[in-house]
Amino acid sequence: PIPVIIDCDTGIDDALALLLAVRHPRLDLRAVTCVAGNTDVDGVVRNTLTVLEHAGAPGVPVARGAERPLIEAVRTARHVHGQDGMGDLGLPAPTRTPVDLDAVSLLRREILASPRPVTLIPTAPATNIALLLRTHPEVTRNIERIVFMGGAVATGNATPVAEFNVWHDPEAAAILLTAGVPITMYGLDVFQRVVVPGADVRRLRASADPGTRLAGDLLAHRGPATDEADPGGGLGDAGAVCAVVDPAGLTTRRLPVEVSLAPGPARGQTLVDRRTRPGESELHTGPREQPLVDVGLDVDVARYVAVFLGAVEG
Ligand code: BDR
Ligand code: CA
Repeated sequence: PIPVIIDCDTGIDDALALLLAVRHPRLDLRAVTCVAGNTDVDGVVRNTLTVLEHAGAPGVPVARGAERPLIEAVRTARHVHGQDGMGDLGLPAPTRTPVDLDAVSLLRREILASPRPVTLIPTAPATNIALLLRTHPEVTRNIERIVFMGGAVATGNATPVAEFNVWHDPEAAAILLTAGVPITMYGLDVFQRVVVPGADVRRLRASADPGTRLAGDLLAHRGPATDEADPGGGLGDAGAVCAVVDPAGLTTRRLPVEVSLAPGPARGQTLVDRRTRPGESELHTGPREQPLVDVGLDVDVARYVAVFLGAVEG
């Protein structure tokens, strides 16, 4: 299996990503680290532990991370994810507590201890990842790739041009992009397209398995409908996990990406330079070298829905 670590802000769709990572036979979820984003970091820790218990993975180490972005104040998305950050489903409190290590220390320990290079899957503002890269740069020698949910080629969601995770901590996202390891950007352009049909959501909700049922309840809460008569639920962050298991389902192009850091209406935008053909970017990007990122431009929706359902339903 592929060793993976998820850094998340659970979060309805982060929960779907966790369920998939626990249950997919080709993934070895070695740790989960938590950061403020969709809700405050203590809420994220609680939600993450609860989801792992439902998924049947009560032993995966979970660490509490940054309680605010590097520079910005916390700006949660409770209007999307509910007061508890998990759709207010009334889930029970977890029966365990996080490990006695901060997120950066757990990330370092698990990355360096892994016998095979780890794939990092950040599905949240990149604060923990930025702190890790600046505190322990040696970890990059045992990172296979970073597949992150964030950014957008076209339209944003937090602002007209900025995607929430990058907007919440733009400096951290800029640090992630310059990590010097291979990076896949699973941005809004593909993120928003992968929707589980309503009939599948209903079947998940009727399951006797607590993890499968939770996936159905979260998807039902999440929407949005592509078919108004039969609303399904978006996979969201779980699509980034699909991109690790099944990279061929995602069409990418290697392109320069820069985060807009200047104050003002474009702050947090990912500027994806599509002017160039791969290999020619240096002719056009000007004096400042931008990192090249494998940017998700198209996704095989049915294939990723099948990856998710196949693993989560067992
Ligand atoms: C991202 O923002 C969060 O609300 C979601 O969990 C996802 O990671 C989408 O912009
Ligand atoms: Ca998230």
